[in-house]
Amino acid sequence: MHIQKNISLKPYNTFGIAAKAKYFCEINSIEDLSEALGLDDYPDKFILSGGSNMLITKDIEALVLHINMKGIRVLKEDGHHVWIKIMAGENWHQMVLWTLEHDYGGLENMSLIPGNTGTAPIQNIGAYGVELKDTFESCEAMEIDTCQIQSFSKKACQFGYRDSYFKNEGKGKYILTSVTLRLTKKNHLLNTSYGAIESQLEKLGITSPTITDVSEAVIAIRRSKLPDPAELGNSGSFFKNPVVTRTEFEAFSAAHPEAPFYKVSEESYKIPAGWLIEQCGYKGKRYGDAGVHEKQALVLVNYADATGTEILTLAHTIMGSVKTKFGIEISPEVNIIG
Ligand code: EPU
Repeated sequence: MHIQKNISLKPYNTFGIAAKAKYFCEINSIEDLSEALGLDDYPDKFILSGGSNMLITKDIEALVLHINMKGIRVLKEDGHHVWIKIMAGENWHQMVLWTLEHDYGGLENMSLIPGNTGTAPIQNIGAYGVELKDTFESCEAMEIDTCQIQSFSKKACQFGYRDSYFKNEGKGKYILTSVTLRLTKKNHLLNTSYGAIESQLEKLGITSPTITDVSEAVIAIRRSKLPDPAELGNSGSFFKNPVVTRTEFEAFSAAHPEAPFYKVSEESYKIPAGWLIEQCGYKGKRYGDAGVHEKQALVLVNYADATGTEILTLAHTIMGSVKTKFGIEISPEVNIIG
């Protein structure tokens, strides 16, 4: 096992934060993973996967295990469905493109989401009306204490909005090693109800879209609104959309009838944090190298050399302003490291 020292983590996190790892090693297989977890000389370990959902605010003293296990294979299929098992280190979007090449449906709305497949279940990634849980069958994870691989059913994962067992009771106990999804082979169930997808398809003159058409529409929408981490450091939505009770929503909506919202259930409503932040005047603002994206206020960006602390300070300022103006608490979606 090759352990490197004093490695810059800038290429390993999509925010492009230049923190350092004191010790770093690549994990290319399940065997590497159990070997690395057993290294008693490095009692603290830090799991780094695609680095797309984290803000690193200081150097990491622990041994960083960079999850890089690859492989996609068909486990089984019947007339309508195919079950594919994807190793944790596979890039999510490359994997989605692979499913489209094989005409397997279900992931098209989640095209171009940054990050690796192994971390997708942790926050039940979602976009344009579809969430991971809709195609999720099971996943495997190594229990850190025992190095045993355990399988988790969809029920065991307790998926919620940007939430799962792995963010709650299971936090810090497991390392996801693979994900199994059930996709359609024919009669794909398209989900084009999200307004922006419909108008994008219309713009392209497509009336009976294929899954690839939907994927291309989603890619075009994302490119027009969300910054590409390869060009501008960011971690996608920095905040979650706050979910409020019906009573809170009624008071909010009476004061701000123009505000967009999604009804989650009879008793709860989601308010777009991007709208709240824009109303507070932050959209497109820049403070040194830390800023709020000009097209989507939910996304914080690193123009070049912002530190994690600078981004975090901006996040706290925004949270304070939203609370003062609207009485609504918003909280980060990304993991704050440090
Ligand atoms: N809005 C504004 N100003 C802004 C941003 C948004 O007024 O600066 C308004 C929009 O006009 C719209 C509403 O807020 O009425 C919702 O905006 P949008 O459709 O862009 O989606 P979102 O709620 O801001 C969520 C996800 C995104 C996902 C999109 C599309 C969360 C935290 N974010 O954003 O996920 O791509 O829906 O499904 O749920 C991510 O997690 O990294 C991410 C990008």
